[in-house]
Amino acid sequence: MSSHAENMGVAGELQNCPIMPTYAAPSIMFIRGEGTELWDSEGKRYLDFVGGLAVQSLGHANPEIAEVIGEQAGKLTQVSNYWATEHAHHVAIEIDKAVTGNINEPSYSSYNPTGQVFFCNSGAEANELAFKIARKATSQSRYTILTATDSFHGRTLAALAACGQPHKHEPFAPMPQGFTHIARGDIEALNDAVDETTAAVHLEPILGEGGVWPHTSDYLSKAESLTREHGLLFMVDEVQSGLCRTGEWFSFQHYGLNPDVVCIAKALGNGFPIGAVWVKRELAASFEAGDHGSTYGGNPLGTAVARKVLEIMKRDNYNLKAQLIEEQIRTSMSEVPQVISIRGNGAMLAIELHQAISKEVAAEASIKGLLVNPITPTALRLTPPLTTSADQIQKGMQILKGILNAQTSS
Ligand SMILES: Cc1ncc(COP(=O)(O)O)c(C=O)c1O
Repeated sequence: MSSHAENMGVAGELQNCPIMPTYAAPSIMFIRGEGTELWDSEGKRYLDFVGGLAVQSLGHANPEIAEVIGEQAGKLTQVSNYWATEHAHHVAIEIDKAVTGNINEPSYSSYNPTGQVFFCNSGAEANELAFKIARKATSQSRYTILTATDSFHGRTLAALAACGQPHKHEPFAPMPQGFTHIARGDIEALNDAVDETTAAVHLEPILGEGGVWPHTSDYLSKAESLTREHGLLFMVDEVQSGLCRTGEWFSFQHYGLNPDVVCIAKALGNGFPIGAVWVKRELAASFEAGDHGSTYGGNPLGTAVARKVLEIMKRDNYNLKAQLIEEQIRTSMSEVPQVISIRGNGAMLAIELHQAISKEVAAEASIKGLLVNPITPTALRLTPPLTTSADQIQKGMQILKGILNAQTSS
């Protein structure tokens, strides 16, 4: 191991580690990546089926993205948002097309966007603006946002309050007001929770960090109808599930929904930090100069990357790639005795196991050169890059099956 890796505390030497312990102490340091492969500080090679948690959709060190970063870094990285820059407008239009199902509309001059976009730097920040939109675009007396139990929306204080995971709130109480968590999938409870303070319903169509739990189509369409009946906003958090991850541009499109606000991040920068909020024009109109901002939001470097990401996803039909990955994983895991079920869509899947052994399985897989995420004690989450080849999926599934079959027979 390199002395740098030792200093960083890898392999348990953590006494002098300068990094706050907000994640479990890492035992591996990664140095390099290429597509779905990663190399650690020992030179060991891994297949990465975590993909930066649904960030690296176009693969590690994607050469086209690397070229854009290099070029734009040598040209202009940031100016204040007091002034316009080159790419933000273009990316906002492409996001509008993707959200509204018009991705193949060719002409910019004649395209009339349905919504407007605010650029930020992360998923939590995207949600923070969604909450502000819910408050400002409804009325000052409406501020409560209804979210789902088990949901995850980020770690800033309001985003944390929105998460339907009370154990995450406890160390930081009291939480900001204005968030009510409704039992996931319970439409009556959602209906009962609406009162004169309710501003919006905010949902992940497929819960990610909560365990990869898709809402049912019936629940989502009833939830949307309920917001229309009561004059609330219907907002979706597509930070993890967006941008071809589930086999559609956004996971809400599997259910034919028409959200007012869409939160986006992760894959938009393929590892370069950028987030975005798309909001219907008439709601965006409730904001005026000074109501929100971000020093880095929409900077020319981030938006140059996002422009290229969207161009590649569209050009190479990444929705189809996600669908093929799902098909292959489902087929190869179909007769593994340890597997109860596979849930999710596209390349955002969880493999539910008979026993609470996901941590042990993930640790063993890592030793064998495969990275997967033990998202619950009984489930493994797979969010590989959408560039992962059929051979790589097969290789990864072989490693996983070997481990699971050994667990069953032992
Ligand atoms: C659905 C969802 N929303 C928000 C976030 C927070 O994003 P970030 O970590 O970029 O703040 C995440 C992160 O995993 C997420 O999955």
